[in-house]
Amino acid sequence: MAQVASAQPLVSIRRVSKRYPGVLAVDDVSLDLFAGEVHGLVGENGAGKSTLIKLLAGAIARDQGEILVRGRPAELRHVWEAKRLGLAFIHQELNLIPYFTAVENIFLGHAYPRRRWGGVDWRRLRMHAQKVLEQLGADIPLDLPVSRLSPGQQTLVSIAHALAADADLIVMDEPTASLTDQEIEHLFAVIRTLQQRGVGVLYISHRLAEIFAITQRITVMRNGRVVTTQPTAAVTERDLVQWMTGRTVDTIYPPRSPATQTPLLTVAGLSGHFCRDISFTLHRGEVLGVAGLIGSGRSELLRMLFGAAPVLAGSIHLHGERGAQPIRPRSPAEAYRLGLALAPEERRSQGLVLTRPIYENTTLTFLRNFARSGWLLDRRREIDATVQLGARLGLRSRSPRQPVAQLSGGNQQKVVFARALAGEVRVLLLDEPTRGVDVGAKQDIYRIIRDLTAQGVGVLLVSSELPEVLGLAHRLIVLREGRQVATLDADAVGEEEVLAYCFGVGATQAP
Ligand SMILES: Nc1ncnc2c1ncn2[C@@H]1O[C@H](COP(=O)(O)OP(=O)(O)OP(=O)(O)O)[C@@H](O)[C@H]1O
Ligand SMILES: [Mg+2]
Repeated sequence: MAQVASAQPLVSIRRVSKRYPGVLAVDDVSLDLFAGEVHGLVGENGAGKSTLIKLLAGAIARDQGEILVRGRPAELRHVWEAKRLGLAFIHQELNLIPYFTAVENIFLGHAYPRRRWGGVDWRRLRMHAQKVLEQLGADIPLDLPVSRLSPGQQTLVSIAHALAADADLIVMDEPTASLTDQEIEHLFAVIRTLQQRGVGVLYISHRLAEIFAITQRITVMRNGRVVTTQPTAAVTERDLVQWMTGRTVDTIYPPRSPATQTPLLTVAGLSGHFCRDISFTLHRGEVLGVAGLIGSGRSELLRMLFGAAPVLAGSIHLHGERGAQPIRPRSPAEAYRLGLALAPEERRSQGLVLTRPIYENTTLTFLRNFARSGWLLDRRREIDATVQLGARLGLRSRSPRQPVAQLSGGNQQKVVFARALAGEVRVLLLDEPTRGVDVGAKQDIYRIIRDLTAQGVGVLLVSSELPEVLGLAHRLIVLREGRQVATLDADAVGEEEVLAYCFGVGATQAP
């Protein structure tokens, strides 16, 4: 774009560095962002993307370098300063206040419209919130505490908060991780409108297709440094992956190992508060995909099997040497004892104890395995097991004793996965296992799924990325509004057909 080449940058990051104990998270980074430009930022988990964003936001202080906003040096020692300078942020880990409503969160820290005598004009506030959400195509209850909203809805609230700031630059760190395709389309439409109005956008995502769809330039980071900045039109996905990882990543899905015909888990007529009448058999060595839109009941199904959501009707049988045993896990602890492990989708609220070290988070649910005598834990073995699992998953950390809070988003996700693998797993329940995980690590996770199934483990896989479900699963079931609408052979269907079942258009099948 001509205007991009000639104009003064909206924001200039110059030779900025940030060191954490043991890691140079951002290393001498320079980057120019222009008005009216959507700039992509990509890199592996732990490359330093979010740290760079936090420096720009004034949430953490840089050690070196300068940042210019419209040509003027900015201190950026405090988040208010970034806000005053017209910069808005959607952070990777959302900063919502859980017991505030959507309206309150959207206007948090912004100027409230006032009535003549000074009181807050709540009616105007609500209308304004409604309008911003409408732009996003989001239908969200305005008066519930946001803690009661789904992860996707919370993201939309957080996006609305950034839009309501009327900023000149909006930084989006993994905004689409928990959005549906439709919501992503709305977001992109909003981004294009912003761009026409001259707003700049810095856009971070591990989904390279999005980067190609929405950006004009791309910057690649690796180990804290900028590898290159390029016009989007001049690069291919292969180039990006090569720059990000230093290697080429070719086959995305490893060949499936053949599933057996030996039943492992039989579910019949299972119903919960939302799901109704779900029936399937998972075989040893099989990956059974669970497709459906967000809110279709996929997560509840996994949580019921894991003893984390109430089962109202139906039966679950686990097959073993002694035939089929009826089971009804009433708690995650009981599910783990039976050999069922869940990697949940919402890592920060459901998965991790952020202040505790990696190894404790990994072994948490299997402490019995690490007991030396009675209650005394064998710390050495805990740490060894963590290091081994970490290596298998390509976990990037300084030490197994590091608090999980210090890991990058994608690496936190790997800890959740590591924990699910720490015990004797027979049935692995995976809810969005690769959300926020970089291309290289995705490959590692796919390979681990393949290896586990080769050992006879059965996997129930929920993922919003249809290619992932189709690439990994042998068969899949499709849920729509809590009901099972189809059971399909993964090799025999394409994405369109699965989507048609998800949306309820076209053919329906008796399950
Ligand atoms: N508070 C902290 N204390 C210590 N180290 C940290 C802290 N925050 C981040 N780091 C480290 O800084 C490095 C960069 O992390 P950052 O979160 O910026 O990565 P990222 O590129 O955003 O990764 P992801 O794609 O997984 O979100 C990592 O090695 C991470 O462990
Ligand atoms: Mg990040």
